[in-house]
Amino acid sequence: MCGVVGYIGSKSAAPVLIDGLRRLEYRGYDSAGIAVLSEGRILSRKETGRLANLEKVLTDAPLQGTRGIGHTRWATHGAPSQVNSHPHFSSDEAVAVVHNGIIENYAELRDELTGKGHHFLSETDTEVIPHLIEQELKEGAASPLAAVLHALKRLRGAYAVGILFRDEPDAVYCARLGSPLIIGLGDGENFIASDVPAIINRISSVIYLNDGEIARVRQDRVEICTLEGATVEPDPQAVSFHSEDAECAGFETFMLKEIHEQPRILRALLGQYISADGSIDIGPGLKPDYFRKLNRIMIVACGTAYHAGMYGKLLMENLTGIAVETDLASEFRYRDPKIDPGTLVIPVSQSGETADTLASIRMAKDWGCRVLAICNVEGSSMVRESDAVLFTNCGPEIGVASTKAYTAQQMIFALLALYITGIRNDLTPEQIKGYLSELHEVPDAVHYVIQNKETIRKIAEKHHDGPSSLYMGRKFNYPTALEGALKNKEISYQHAEGYAAGEMKHGPIALINESLPVICICTKTSDEVYEKMLSNIKEVEARNGRIIAVATEGDIEIRKLTQDVLYVPEVRDEFTPIVNVVALQLMAYYAARARGTDIDKPRNLAKSVTVE
Ligand code: M6R
Repeated sequence: MCGVVGYIGSKSAAPVLIDGLRRLEYRGYDSAGIAVLSEGRILSRKETGRLANLEKVLTDAPLQGTRGIGHTRWATHGAPSQVNSHPHFSSDEAVAVVHNGIIENYAELRDELTGKGHHFLSETDTEVIPHLIEQELKEGAASPLAAVLHALKRLRGAYAVGILFRDEPDAVYCARLGSPLIIGLGDGENFIASDVPAIINRISSVIYLNDGEIARVRQDRVEICTLEGATVEPDPQAVSFHSEDAECAGFETFMLKEIHEQPRILRALLGQYISADGSIDIGPGLKPDYFRKLNRIMIVACGTAYHAGMYGKLLMENLTGIAVETDLASEFRYRDPKIDPGTLVIPVSQSGETADTLASIRMAKDWGCRVLAICNVEGSSMVRESDAVLFTNCGPEIGVASTKAYTAQQMIFALLALYITGIRNDLTPEQIKGYLSELHEVPDAVHYVIQNKETIRKIAEKHHDGPSSLYMGRKFNYPTALEGALKNKEISYQHAEGYAAGEMKHGPIALINESLPVICICTKTSDEVYEKMLSNIKEVEARNGRIIAVATEGDIEIRKLTQDVLYVPEVRDEFTPIVNVVALQLMAYYAARARGTDIDKPRNLAKSVTVE
């Protein structure tokens, strides 16, 4: 979704803003723009398409000045066009605004302002903000800050804004309500941004602005107040990752880099959540007694995080006596889910800013539920609004297609399930020790899959060209099928569908022919699921289907039924999804590469979906 940056210091603002916007590109956008305070005027440049287009405009018509704001726009109100691109201006060009979020009452504000003589140029909701501020100043607001306070109070919806005043050159303003925004503190210069990776290379600490707060950011200090005007003491915090974590590090894409990071991240999570005595430690947020009495868990999430939630449900139901449900946050928030205060709600999110998941947390809190988030981003809204957090600690995930966050979420669910099991004596300490010992084999198994990427690449290149593909799995690997299909469709643009293999005969079998790749997750299991999967594969084979299996190393028999096999090492049934999905991530990756798509920034997608 839209990205916001701002700069005030002694360097030329335009290159700093462009660099920040480049680091926000992963959020998804279709146009970009910057505004710089230059010799008593605010000047802007905007362009549709990639940032390179804006850079070309700036080469031809540079902007001089040491304070400015910038924006990458993911169109909501009005098509991607130069005129709809941010920054937007007041009529007198004394106020410029960049905005992420949606102003729900913009139409009525626009009518009111039009009645007062304001002339609007764009179709955006954002443009009402500079005009409202201008109107407040006209009507006698005592200062730019007072005008911003009054204007923001009139807005309904969500916003993270950066504001530049022609007549207050020693400050850049920013404010947030429901959309992410941080302030970065540098050496004699300060920044605003949608997230830390945008400015990580330039800052020493960060202030996480809270909802309903406004900051006046000066070159050497930051002043914060609430919408009611009460002063807030800034609370700078150290940043827990390094600037290299947000770089490609020699890989051709961020996604490939992030796939390769998984063994290290999974190992680190085991080290972090398992104490020296072998017990699982999930931190002090929720007491053991709470878990003893718990009888229902509700997991809510979107996209890939939802698939991790499905895995979490299967695992927790399998290992504990607790009833567990998983729901899409966008459905959960509009249905009538009959949740009582005794239900633990677990939101799962990489970004911690997904609008639907956040809304679900707020509903859960209103119902009196405890909320235990699984999240990757420190200081994110979800982290701040939950009672306790289990961090996935992956470092910044830049590729739009989630990979390392997914396997880290799965690992957290495995640890949480075993923790709850231990507290409730569903398993003996010896049994839990056995599970943990096998969980420790997972990072090496993932490493092995990645080592085998050349084989996966050849298979992906052989099957990438059709219009569609089908992914099938059962039990623990039903979510793996859904996630494999999602990865494929989002980066290679090939239609892909994930299905529970047992459902084949109820419809999708009609699709099978010699040209449809059917990816079957058929790793060996200790129960009857493997045999059932084999039967499903035979049904596809009987109809001349093009079968690609994800199978356990050493399973020679499966070769007879399939065109190609992606072999993965054997791990305990419950943990196979963490390993199997990595083969599918690579399969999707190489299919996308063969199809020539923009892998890190697939069309129409945003990394962080901060609007409904
Ligand atoms: O930041 P979140 O984990 O809450 O994001 C949820 C989804 O938007 C995200 O997983 C999306 O589906 C990814 N593009 C999948 O690769």
